[in-house]
Amino acid sequence: MAVRHFLTLLDLSKEELRAVIERAIELKALRNQGVTSEPFRNKVLGMIFEKASTRTRVSFEAGMAQMGGHALFLSPRDTQLGRGEPVEDSARVISRMVDMVMIRTFGHEILERFAEFSKVPVINALSDSYHPCQLLADLQTYFEHRGSPEGKVVAWVGDGNNMCNSYISAARQFDFELRIACPEGYDPDPAIVAAAGNRVTVVRRPEDAVRGADWVATDVWASMGQEDEQRIRMKAFAGYLVNHELMSHANRDAVFMHCLPAHRGEEVSGELLEDESISVVWDEAENRLHAQKALMEFLLDNSN
Ligand code: CP
Ligand code: NVA
Repeated sequence: MAVRHFLTLLDLSKEELRAVIERAIELKALRNQGVTSEPFRNKVLGMIFEKASTRTRVSFEAGMAQMGGHALFLSPRDTQLGRGEPVEDSARVISRMVDMVMIRTFGHEILERFAEFSKVPVINALSDSYHPCQLLADLQTYFEHRGSPEGKVVAWVGDGNNMCNSYISAARQFDFELRIACPEGYDPDPAIVAAAGNRVTVVRRPEDAVRGADWVATDVWASMGQEDEQRIRMKAFAGYLVNHELMSHANRDAVFMHCLPAHRGEEVSGELLEDESISVVWDEAENRLHAQKALMEFLLDNSN
């Protein structure tokens, strides 16, 4: 058995992804019933955060504790990572001491280099290119609320960013149609779009993406690391607000998702975010906990 990593949704097969989501739903039910088990006893997760986080840190740390393991928060500010120790050296050292590593960083190649030199599973907890853990939670949420997304229409409105790229991976792995509406200049990586075939299209008008959609998602207009572009992006994305009016073009039982944190009045209206007949964002956030527990269990069980 080789070491399994989770850098994008394409690192697991379609069957494996479905099994992880089923297990996440099961783990959630067990937790709600008050059933505890500690399969991660003596296991340690190293958590490297080069960017801020609320959901990701809390869900991984709480998840490890609930499964009987321990999570170690490593910030570049107080490790040698921040003083220029090469990623390859850090990977070899850290992975000799812990059982899994979770990394939130900038360039995706940092994760790839770390994974190449790691003896233990590496999890992408967000890079500039992908956010696959969030997609596990989003998919779990769709399964719970509406069933399988296969054959459904999903609309992505806004920036062609790391979340958008992960929605493209999800469209490939779960066979749904994905329509991306973004302003010119903010398209997702054309190679990532092309690799997904004709199930993914890019349009300019949000209405064209949302018309007849079963699931609508958006994200902030300026991601972490793009703070300097905030003003220019506000202008470029004017007209890409997801609100009740835009949702009126979607199917009647469409759900709205947002990975959070949200900027009310920018990419999403406060009214829509709070309308729990459409918006499932709080379940989506909670599901990070369950989905990542299932993911970590999968990676530990399938690596030697
Ligand atoms: N959605 C998400 O990853 O949130 P955090 O940045 O708070 O971890
Ligand atoms: N696209 C956002 C997602 C935050 C969870 C970012 O990268 O900042």
